[in-house]
Amino acid sequence: MDSSPELPFEPFKAKVVERLPNPSREDRERALERAHFNLFNLKSDEIRVDLLTDSGTGAMSDRQWAGLMVGDETYAGSRNFAHFEETVRSITGFPFVLPTHQGRAAENLLFSSLCRPGSIVPNNMHFDTTEAHVRHQGATPVNLAVPAAYDPISPDPFKGNVDIPALERLLTVEGRENVPLVMVTITNNTGGGQPVSIANFREVARVTKVHGVPLYLDMCRWAENAYLVREREPGQSGRSIREIGREFFDLADGATMSAKKDGLVNIGGFVATRDESLADRLREGLILFEGFPTYGGLARRDLEAISVGLLESTDLEYLEHRISQVRFLASRLERRGVPFLRPVGGHGVYLDVRRFLPHLADEDLPGQALAVEIYREGGIRTVEVGALMFGASATGGGQGLELVRLAIPRRVYSASHLAYVADMVSRVYERRDSVRGLRMTYRPERLPHFTARFAPK
Ligand code: F0G
Repeated sequence: MDSSPELPFEPFKAKVVERLPNPSREDRERALERAHFNLFNLKSDEIRVDLLTDSGTGAMSDRQWAGLMVGDETYAGSRNFAHFEETVRSITGFPFVLPTHQGRAAENLLFSSLCRPGSIVPNNMHFDTTEAHVRHQGATPVNLAVPAAYDPISPDPFKGNVDIPALERLLTVEGRENVPLVMVTITNNTGGGQPVSIANFREVARVTKVHGVPLYLDMCRWAENAYLVREREPGQSGRSIREIGREFFDLADGATMSAKKDGLVNIGGFVATRDESLADRLREGLILFEGFPTYGGLARRDLEAISVGLLESTDLEYLEHRISQVRFLASRLERRGVPFLRPVGGHGVYLDVRRFLPHLADEDLPGQALAVEIYREGGIRTVEVGALMFGASATGGGQGLELVRLAIPRRVYSASHLAYVADMVSRVYERRDSVRGLRMTYRPERLPHFTARFAPK
């Protein structure tokens, strides 16, 4: 089926619908005051279109819902776990699979088993929870994405790639004593949902092997990464999503996964590895923090929904729709001259705040100010990915990128919702000179963007 770039064809139809709230301008103003200008504090009834995150916000398919009905809620040895384990093994080839309630629980288990105070953990770019978990172990996260990753207008097709000479230097100086693992995030969420190429990942695997350092993938959006590799990397267009994904997995020692993304579920995740003795240690932590290894903090029916969702996310027609939605939104914004990070990535459009609001200085918290203004204009919730999310980080986190992410939930919104979003964002762009900065009135110690409070300047 052909899908016009103008209007992405939805390869599904609605079976259940949910009424969208329609808050008035006064409702929105009141909501902003009540939320202390932090959009995480909004209530769903105050939101018209929610682009805060693509994590756990997707719509499950009829087959996934059917999977819930065959939930076998046995404490130990549930058949849903057997199916889940078999599915993850068949996709990744990793023999040891431990379910967790979401991605950060997998991160906690992996980092608490491998890191010690003083360790260094390289990644192309850490996501906020990943970075926080590395720090929680007393270790230091280091971002090693290629320089193009920090340039919002560079057309480089693989801005998720790792800077190989920088990784080599780090491993040569620090060695395996100080670097317990190297992680690579596919796609690179912090840098705009940008893919990592197979050629680059092969090099990462070569370098880590030379230094004897384990290599782990943060595979949250691995199917979207494979789609972009298939489209952009020479020689990959004839391969399936699973074949491309499998080449990444074959090069790695294990992975953490938030199934809330390319698992197409509302909750769930896992950590998987080839290392049997590590798996034993992970299992001990799992029982302590999450639950018995055949459920890992989830209802067994949730594991069934993940097994189905993981495979659905590799369907080419689904992925084509998903990526073309992101491009549809971007093309509508482009027509109105709205600046965003290029090329558009796998799960959302990231507005380039410095070009959007050049009159605001960094201390005006321009990303947060823009997210607030987009909500004010159209009841649309987005999220700042910039100085606020990563400003306190020693790695520089986004390293100077100041972005507002419009993350598109999977199989939820239609093209007309996205056209509405483009109209509202464009209206803010047209009156951009009127946008005022914010100041922080409360700053928590960790992960400030979730709970900070603000006031207009
Ligand atoms: N790694 C990446 C790359 C992520 O994007 C996320 C979550 C996690 C790990 C943690 O997974 O939420 O299941 O604990 N990202 C969401 C987002 C929250 O909005 O991008 P989790």
